[in-house]
Amino acid sequence: MVIRPASQHDKADIEALYRSAFPEEEWEKVAKLATDLLDDDAQGSFSLVIDDEDDQILGHVAFSEITIPSEPETHAAILAPLAVHPDAQRQGVGTALVNHGLDILTEEENNLVFVYGDPEYYGRFGFTVEPAENFRPPYELQFPKGWQVLALTAEAPPEDPIDITCAPALQDPTLW
Ligand SMILES: CC(C)(COP(=O)(O)OP(=O)(O)OC[C@H]1O[C@@H](n2cnc3c(N)ncnc32)[C@H](O)[C@@H]1OP(=O)(O)O)[C@@H](O)C(=O)NCCC(=O)NCCS
Repeated sequence: MVIRPASQHDKADIEALYRSAFPEEEWEKVAKLATDLLDDDAQGSFSLVIDDEDDQILGHVAFSEITIPSEPETHAAILAPLAVHPDAQRQGVGTALVNHGLDILTEEENNLVFVYGDPEYYGRFGFTVEPAENFRPPYELQFPKGWQVLALTAEAPPEDPIDITCAPALQDPTLW
């Protein structure tokens, strides 16, 4: 299996991956996010796919830039979305994609990585809920317990709530 940057050529395969991995009522919205982020040319944004030996895409993850207007020196990203083909789940594919992305973000000297998902899954990478509480996302969260952050450098979480802003592709209240 090979992890490589995703490109526009992967768009149809990424859509098909999300169709297979997510429930019927959710996949289109998440696939749109994944493919919209292929167009995100912010410096801190990137997408990865993992191919099998037949060049079939088994998994995809996107990281996009987060800005914190009150802390312009802080470099941050958000992990979203992530999917692994049902036939390839529970074989370490998601873990490999997330770890590869976190390595890139560390090399690029990011301070923080956010994620909005199941803490049981993301906790294994070091994401935690409590320090994320004072980072205020752009929309009200439907599942506040899924809002997590991972500090890649020694960062003290803010004592008071501060706003964060995200890529245009994530500026959709139904995603939060
Ligand atoms: C969640 C997902 C990305 C995990 O990828 P994966 O390649 O199957 O995961 P890995 O093989 O790296 O890790 C497997 C471990 O994660 C756990 N896990 C898998 N899916 C999980 C989930 N939805 N919630 C919590 N834990 C989960 C399993 O318990 C497993 O641990 P175990 O092997 O000790 O039992 C994948 O199952 C998927 O695409 N699911 C559908 C789409 C989705 O929910 N994406 C959003 C994630 S918030």
